Amino acid sequence: MSDIDHAFASPLVRGLYLEAFGRPVVLVSAEADPVPGQALSVDLGAETEESSAASALKDALAAWRAKRGGAAMPGCIVLLSGGKASAYWPGLGYDDALRRAKARDASPLAVPAAARADAGSASRRSAVVEGRIALVTGGAQGFGEEIVRGLAASGALVFVADLNLAGAEKLSATLNSEAGKTVAIPVAVNVADEASVAAMFALTAEKAGGIDLVVSNAGVLKASSVLSQETSSFKFVTDVNYVGFFLMTKHAGLLLRRQSRTAPRWATDIIQINSKSGLEGSNKNGSYAGSKFGGIGLVQSFALELVEWKIKVNAICPGNFLNGPLWSDPVKGLFVQYLQSGKVPGAKTVDDVRKSYEGKVPMRRGCEGPDVMRAIYYLVEQEYETGQALPVTGGQVMLS
Ligand SMILES: NC(=O)c1ccc[n+]([C@@H]2O[C@H](COP(=O)([O-])OP(=O)(O)OC[C@H]3O[C@@H](n4cnc5c(N)ncnc54)[C@H](O)[C@@H]3O)[C@@H](O)[C@H]2O)c1
Repeated sequence: MSDIDHAFASPLVRGLYLEAFGRPVVLVSAEADPVPGQALSVDLGAETEESSAASALKDALAAWRAKRGGAAMPGCIVLLSGGKASAYWPGLGYDDALRRAKARDASPLAVPAAARADAGSASRRSAVVEGRIALVTGGAQGFGEEIVRGLAASGALVFVADLNLAGAEKLSATLNSEAGKTVAIPVAVNVADEASVAAMFALTAEKAGGIDLVVSNAGVLKASSVLSQETSSFKFVTDVNYVGFFLMTKHAGLLLRRQSRTAPRWATDIIQINSKSGLEGSNKNGSYAGSKFGGIGLVQSFALELVEWKIKVNAICPGNFLNGPLWSDPVKGLFVQYLQSGKVPGAKTVDDVRKSYEGKVPMRRGCEGPDVMRAIYYLVEQEYETGQALPVTGGQVMLS
C-alpha cells in the first residue's frame, strides 16, 4: 500500500494536535501497515477537498476522544484514501516524533489541562518559538544564518533553505551535532522558481507535518546607477526579492491555510526580512530599494487576505549588517567595493569606509543577528498585529 499525499494530509493532521495541545508538535509519517493497535484510523475515501477532509478528520477525532472522556489524543493517526494509507506520529520535537514512529508507539497522549491556558504567554521572549517548526530562506549565511542559529538555540526545529545546499547542509550538521539532536534540516530552494518553492513546502509537510514560522530572508543586491543598470540585472534583483516573496507567501499560505482548517485558533507567521531600503530610497541602488518597497506593499496586502486563516504577515527592516559577509567579506564585500569605487569621499582604508557607515547610525553600530531575533520574537508573540514593517536600524530610519 503506497503513502497518501503528505503535502495534503500532514498539515490537516498536525492541525488536530495544535488545536488540542495549544503548543507546537512535529508530525512524522511512516508506513501504515499493519495499523498500530491504538491508532485512530480515518478513511477519507476519495476526498481531495481540504475543508471536507478537515471536517471528516475533526468528526472522527471527536468520536475517538468522546469514547475516552476527552482527556487524551491519539498517539498515532492513520489515514486511508483511495487504496493508499499513511500513519502519522506526533512528538514534542523531531527526534521524539521519530522515536515514537520507529517504536510504533501509538499509546494515547495526555492533554495537559494547562496547555491551552499557557499558549501565547512566554516567561522569556525567546520561548515563544520553542518547539515551533520554522523555515528560513537564505539560511546558509548572513542574516539568514544568524536567524537559523537564533531560532535553533531557542528550541525551534528549523528548515535551512538555500540555493547553496552545501552551505545549508554544513550549517545544519554543525547545529545538530552541537545540540546532540535534530534542530536543523537542510533543504534546497531557489525562491525565484515556483516549482522549487512548492517542492520545498511539500518537503516540510512530509518531514515535520507543517510549519509555524516562515522567514522569507533570501535576497540579493546589485547596486547600480539607473542610467547604466542592465535590464537583466534589474530583473534579477526583482525576481529574487519581490517575485520570490510572492512565491514564498503563496505556497506557505496554501500549507498554513490547510493546517488552519483543523487548527483555527493557532496563529502562524510569515516574516519578510526587508530592509531600511524598503522605507527610504537608496542612491544608485534602485533595483534593490524598489524591490524592498514593493515587498512592503505585498506584506500589507497579503496580511489583509491571510488574516482569515490566522496567518500574520509582517516585515522586519534591518539596518546594515556591517559585520556580515555582504559588507565584511575581505575580497568581494561592500567595504572593499566602496573603497575601490571611491564611493566614500576621502576614505583611504576599509576601516575608513566602515567608520563612515557606522557614523550614519545614531546608535553608532551596524545591525546584528540578535537585533533581528528580538524583532522576530516580538512579531511571533504579538498576536494582535499584522501587515507591519518593523524597523531595526539603530535609529537610522524612523517611521513617519
Ligand atoms: N546585509 C545587510 O546589510 C542587510 C541589511 C538589510 C536587509 N538585508 C536583507 O537581509 C536578507 C539577507 O541578506 P544578507 O546580507 O544576509 O545576504 P547574504 O548575501 O549574506 O546571504 C544570502 C543568502 O541567500 C541565498 N540566496 C540567494 N539567492 C537565493 C535564491 N534565489 N533562493 C534561495 N536562496 C538564495 C544565498 O545563497 C545566501 O546564503 C536579504 O533579504 C537582504 O536584503 C541585508
